[in-house]
Order: sequence, then C-alpha cells, then structure tokens
Amino acid sequence: MTETATLEPPAARTLPLDVESTRNDFPIFRNRSVENPFTYLDNAATSQTPRQVVDAVEAYYTQYNANVHRSIYAAGEEATEAYESARERVGSFIGAGDSHAVVFTRGTTEAINLVAYAWGRLNLREGDEILLTEMEHHSNLVPWQLTAQQAGASLRFIVEACFSEKTRIVSVIHQSNVFGTINNVHKITSLAKSVGAVTLIDAAQSVPHLHTDVSALDCDFLAFSGHKMLGPTGVGMLCGRTELLDQMEPFLAGGEMIRTVSLDSSTWNDVPWKFEAGTPNIAQAIGLGAAVDYLSHLGMETIHRHEAAVTEYALEKLEEMPEVTIYGSAPERGGVVAFNVDGVHPHDLSQLLDRDGIAVRAGHHCAQPIMDKLNVSATARASFYLYNDFDDVDRLTESIASSLEFMS
Ligand SMILES: Cc1ncc(COP(=O)(O)O)c(C=O)c1O
Repeated sequence: MTETATLEPPAARTLPLDVESTRNDFPIFRNRSVENPFTYLDNAATSQTPRQVVDAVEAYYTQYNANVHRSIYAAGEEATEAYESARERVGSFIGAGDSHAVVFTRGTTEAINLVAYAWGRLNLREGDEILLTEMEHHSNLVPWQLTAQQAGASLRFIVEACFSEKTRIVSVIHQSNVFGTINNVHKITSLAKSVGAVTLIDAAQSVPHLHTDVSALDCDFLAFSGHKMLGPTGVGMLCGRTELLDQMEPFLAGGEMIRTVSLDSSTWNDVPWKFEAGTPNIAQAIGLGAAVDYLSHLGMETIHRHEAAVTEYALEKLEEMPEVTIYGSAPERGGVVAFNVDGVHPHDLSQLLDRDGIAVRAGHHCAQPIMDKLNVSATARASFYLYNDFDDVDRLTESIASSLEFMS
C-alpha cells in the first residue's frame, strides 16, 4: 500500500483563509456531515454557491421580480437598478475602465461565440489567421473553427506559428483548465498589438482565482463565467473594448437590443444592450453581483495565496505516490492538478473517490487536442477553491491509496 503520511503535518502550515468559517457560508457544506462528507475538488468545472448569492437571487424572486429596462413601476425599476448595479460591480471587479463595456452573456462559451461571430463576420477575410494555443478549451477552439471556415481564414497555434501581419485575432486561455498553467497573457497581448491583431482572453479559469485588471492586461476582449466564481449558472460576461463593440453587428436579435424597428429594417441600441437581446438572466446577473462582492470581501490576492498553498501541498503529496503521474509542471500555475493513477482508469478512480465523498473530474476536460498531445484519452483532475484545505488533500490521497488497494 502507498504511504502518504511522510510530509510535514498540515497543522504546521497555515492557510490565509479561515476555511471553517468560510464553509459556514456555503449551505451545501453545512448540509453535509461526517457520515455524509463532501470533499469538493471539482471547482474548475463549477464552484459552490454561498448563502449571500442564494439570498440575492431569492430576494429578486421574492421581493421585486419584474422584467428590466421596460417596466415603469417600482418593482421593475428596482429590478433594473439591481441588474445594472450588478453589471457595474462585476465590471469594476475586473478593472474594466472607460475604454471597455461589459455585456452579460450566458457564460464564457456564449461570450466567445459572440466575438467569433460578430467580430469575425466584420473583420475576417480569406487568408487571415486566427492565433490560438493548443491548450484551448473547446469553447475557444470550435467557434473559431466555424468562423475560419466561413471566412476562408485559417487557425494557427502559438507553439507552431508566430505573430505576423496576417494575424487578425489572438484568442488565448489565461489559466489552463487541465494543467493550471497561467499563461503570460500580457506578453501575448503586447505581441498581438505589435502586429495590429485584436486579442481575446478566455478568463473562465482566471477571473475566479486571480486578481484581474483588464486595463493592465491590455486586451480587447475578456470572457468568463459566473458559475465558476461562486455565482449562479447561466450567466457570464464579455468585457470588450467599446470601440470594437460599437463597430460590430449584433450577435442575437430581438427585444431590447433595438432602438427603432420598422417592418423592413431596424437600428440598434447602444453597447452593451445591443448584445443583450431578449429578457436577460436577471436573477443570475444579480447573483453574480453578490458573488463578486463576496470574493472582493475576502480579497483576490488572499484567495490566490490560499489556493497556492493548498495546491503546493497537493502536488507534494501526489508526487510522493509512485503510482501517480501528474500532468503539467509550469512554474506559474493555479489550483488545478490533472493526474492519472497506474492501473486505475480515471473514471473508475472518480467513482471510487466518490464512495469517500470526494468529487473530482475525470475525462478529457473539453480539451481533446491537448489530451491527444499527452497521449492520454482522459485524466483525473482535482481543482481547488477558497473553501478547500489541507485536510481535503489528505482525504484525496488517502482515498487514492485505498482505491489502489481495492484495484490490486
Ligand atoms: C478555460 C475554459 N474556457 C471556457 C469554458 C467554458 O465555460 P462555460 O461552460 O461556463 O461557458 C471553461 C469551462 O470549463 C473553461 O474551463
């Protein structure tokens, strides 16, 4: 059996956040017990929801449920104010200044599709190049495949190609959802600028975990999802340079995105509403506003240091196990660890860990090209957030050890 207990005991190390009191804010953890434990290590897929977010969503439905931007009565005005206040708070959370506008979307996937479609249709021509990395999540690859096909443009990948005058857009993942690698996106945006290319940052895995400042990153577009940062599902954001959003035609059409409509033509509302056709996800947007308040209260620098300490401990413990292979070794990394265990398929491992109340992801993590490169079809993945601690890591490694024993 694998020994997992030779490291310095976690008690001798300290964590920046008080996990016990933080977990008290999360009903899902409060509802579990020693007999029914829940060690949640699948935060790269989605995060848990604090009471403050649930309360904000509930308050909307129970106190002022009405549509936004069109209802001239108290509840409607309150809803509009709460929705727009959430936009402002989420925008300021990512440092979106005067040069950028923030559009509510369903999530990162929709935000990237919006740019690939609306910016792509306007700007991409035959022979143009779209530059990505090979570690993109499918949601920052497949929309560009479609756009490239329609425009006659081609996809290039940063490892094999360089920036050139043909490069029209560079769309890159900030933090890998497979390896946790934090890419130097500022360097990428500078290089892109030097050839006159537009930039998009897939920040689905970075905005929830790293202090983000759009102005400092100097990107044109940045996309992220609410459900990975303590917010509700079904809401996310596209932060885009206003000048570019102004030039783009709408992505979806219908109510609220128009200024005037006649039977044969229409004119558009201002940015950001031009890109928010139909009734938006009002409750979810308000919930996302509460989520960024919660994160800001704890402090993104503190959250990052907390996750870094838990991740470092996890890497040390997993490296001690000879049966475990860890994928990815970038010095700059976030709280995501992909690994495999000799002789145990990751799907089996996930099920065995689940018997001990431990949730990890198993699969290709929506990044099949990078899995092909690794020559594996799937890995297990543990990903951490502000409510995880050293005990969670100990439970994980102990459960891996007993899974190995079970499979032998
Ligand atoms: C790096 C990255 N980009 C994009 C996405 C897509 O996010 P969503 O499914 O919330 O649209 C994910 C989700 O896992 C991701 O990890």
